[in-house]
Amino acid sequence: LLYSQAIEAAVKDQQKLVTGSQNARSSARVRAIDIGTGSGLLGCLAAKTGASVVAFELVEDMYNLACNVVEGNGLSDQIEVLCADSVVATTREEMPEGRKICSDGVKTWRLPSDNGKETEPARPRAHLIVHELLDTGILGEGLIRALRHAWDVLCEPTAISVPSSVSLVVQPVCCEYLRKAASLDDGAATLLPLPPAVGRCRGSPGYFEMQAALPLRQGHMTPLCEPLRACEIDLGAGSAALAEKGVRTLAPLSMAGPGTAGPLSEHRKKRPHAVLAWFEATMHATTPPLSTSPWRSFADGEDAGPVRSHWQQAAFLLPPSASLSNDEQRWLLLAHDDDEFFLELASSGGEDASTTSPTPVRATYPTPERTVCTCGVHSLWGPERLVLLNELDAAAVAAAAEAAVQTLAHNLIMADSTAVRPATATSA
Ligand SMILES: C[S@@+](CC[C@H](N)C(=O)[O-])C[C@H]1O[C@@H](n2cnc3c(N)ncnc32)[C@H](O)[C@@H]1O
Repeated sequence: LLYSQAIEAAVKDQQKLVTGSQNARSSARVRAIDIGTGSGLLGCLAAKTGASVVAFELVEDMYNLACNVVEGNGLSDQIEVLCADSVVATTREEMPEGRKICSDGVKTWRLPSDNGKETEPARPRAHLIVHELLDTGILGEGLIRALRHAWDVLCEPTAISVPSSVSLVVQPVCCEYLRKAASLDDGAATLLPLPPAVGRCRGSPGYFEMQAALPLRQGHMTPLCEPLRACEIDLGAGSAALAEKGVRTLAPLSMAGPGTAGPLSEHRKKRPHAVLAWFEATMHATTPPLSTSPWRSFADGEDAGPVRSHWQQAAFLLPPSASLSNDEQRWLLLAHDDDEFFLELASSGGEDASTTSPTPVRATYPTPERTVCTCGVHSLWGPERLVLLNELDAAAVAAAAEAAVQTLAHNLIMADSTAVRPATATSA
């Protein structure tokens, strides 16, 4: 519904533009591209409001599905489905070196040749981009690359994008499960011959996907401050707005939050085990946003709404050294590249704690980078296995190991004593 409302409003906006600039050669239809059409749904929504659509889908099975859906809805004359990665599509017609990118040889969007000869566009540029390339952590499905290419190659400068922007919203939380998922406790470490590098390792790369509404509701996860809109990516302002990397935000964390049961001072003593993150996408200026917040189901009261939805939240696990426990101003350091967000917590290091502007401390910190597991333990086992290892009862494991060794020794002795040997063999 959110997409339907926004796409309808966007097609109507662009229809005014197209009608206004219509001349004898141009068509009066809004031209839309649907990037990653999947089931074909968004392209169909645009077509039903009157647009002509080129829909890209790189997975062949999904492409076939989209073709069926388009045909089943009687929209084949308005929607052209291409089995292609939009990022290599071009509007140029004359491509002698171009590679055929789908099997039927008809619905082919030619790839650019190495010589990149500039000719008349095979298809005119689009007025509207519709897409749903969002994953839990926003960027993992190639959103930035796809939109950057769309703006550079496939769209008019006056085009609009649905969604038009997307923000990462973050909230540090205290949660025993996430603590165990981040690193190995001393108890687990006594069971396993761990390399010393484990203690110095920054931990698991990326984030841990989870449904956070239920643990929040049941009190197994405590928010340590208000949700904070940490970074907004403008998808509707051309490729220059889609920075490749180094985007950096220093967000001040204020220590108050929804769902905090006890006095604030109690929460400030808690260690943050993870930064919970979700997204809010602006669909169109006149229609409601799409939010994957775990607080959605709390909006109308304690028991309102389902606690599970299609969308999960991202938990960026923090190392055991992370803390919010003193009175210093804390900052969330955030950066992203084309594929993922990186974030860290930092204190102001003696800055004026009353300041809420990131400017005074901006120069103090290095831009956070991708977490790389340097000890092998986090990347080998992953967060869920670390939880299991942390929950092992060391004494019980030692007793089970002892019993297993004794059984093995017993079996070996029995096998040895019953083995048939040549008459001349000597037993060692
Ligand atoms: C989350 S799904 C989109 C769902 C779709 N909008 C729907 O309504 O069914 C993302 C889809 O985009 C496709 N995809 C991702 N990046 C693409 C690209 N650059 N060009 C073409 N398809 C892409 C994936 O194969 C996947 O099927």
